[in-house]
Amino acid sequence: MRQPLLLGIETSCDETSAAVLRGERELLGHVILSQDIHAVYGGVVPELAARAHLCALDDVIESALREAGIALRDVDAIGVTAGPGLIGALLVGVSWAKAAAFALAKPLLAVHHMEAHLFAPNLEDADARPPFVALLVSGGHTLLLWVPEWGEYQRLGETRDDAAGEAFDKVAKLLGLPYPGGPPIERLAREGDPDRHRLPRPMLNSAQVPGDADYYDFSFSGLKTAVVTRVARLEAACELESERAHVAAAFHEAVVDVLASKTMRAVAATGCRRVLAGGGVAANRRLRDELAGRLGAGGRLFHSCPRLAVDNGAMIARAALFHLQRGDVAPLDVSARADWPLAMSH
Ligand code: KG4
Ligand code: ZN
Repeated sequence: MRQPLLLGIETSCDETSAAVLRGERELLGHVILSQDIHAVYGGVVPELAARAHLCALDDVIESALREAGIALRDVDAIGVTAGPGLIGALLVGVSWAKAAAFALAKPLLAVHHMEAHLFAPNLEDADARPPFVALLVSGGHTLLLWVPEWGEYQRLGETRDDAAGEAFDKVAKLLGLPYPGGPPIERLAREGDPDRHRLPRPMLNSAQVPGDADYYDFSFSGLKTAVVTRVARLEAACELESERAHVAAAFHEAVVDVLASKTMRAVAATGCRRVLAGGGVAANRRLRDELAGRLGAGGRLFHSCPRLAVDNGAMIARAALFHLQRGDVAPLDVSARADWPLAMSH
């Protein structure tokens, strides 16, 4: 049987991306345009993001189709990120997808951005499927989920304040590093000694037991404040330059320790030694090594290559295929949703 051809569109934050996917894993065309304007402003400015998507989306889709060697009318269905994300940015992709689905009479699939991050590793590895414990860590979200099967997402924990990626971005700014902050912090941390500045592990202590409200939850704003205080002290003593790498290493280690420890709590509670790490922060090498090390030989860690870990259209097409196969087609008046919970509380 001919495999369906899916067009996936992503415009929820600062990447304009489109992909053509045949079946579950044959990526025929894939274009990701990162909006460099945000590096200039040190973060995402919603209005600028929406305008940049509007300027780029036609060309990004056209070049993904060209790479795939097909015309738009050849696709069987169109999947688009409908939320959560920046509303103006989401609307650009959703309006384009609705217009194309209507004009070509093709099914439209409204994809949840975080569900798509769960599907990303499956683009490269058919084994990357439930059951698994999922750690989804991005610029806007930090979620710990139990996923017994596709479509069933039980929330174990989430951040109470900043997302993990947001903490990387804010600390990078404090240390004078560019946006997005994850990659430069990871690089700088390799040159530093993580034990020179002991930083707190917020919401992680050995007295917590399953059932406690904070057993699986995360908090990163206190850690960021601890870095603010440390940086101010070092700056006053004219020692910031020589200590930057050590502060980056201490921060990096604290985040990795908290994320890995809470994930392993979920592994212990579910008895499932299969873990999926998704979202931009899962591109972090140190985090993946720590998770793999703690899981040990009897465990499996699923993650994507860096290109598929950050926001991209391929994961949207893959999640859209799942919904197409389930008959979950969106109505043509579907709206973009800035807030859209993925999971029910456990
Ligand atoms: O999933 P994503 O591309 O976009 C959102 O949905 O937010 O994640 C972006 C986030 C940014 O905060 C960025 O700093 C972080 O992922 N990130 C990293 C790394 N690469 C990207 N954080 C830590 N280490 C990395 N190597
Ligand atoms: Zn994302």
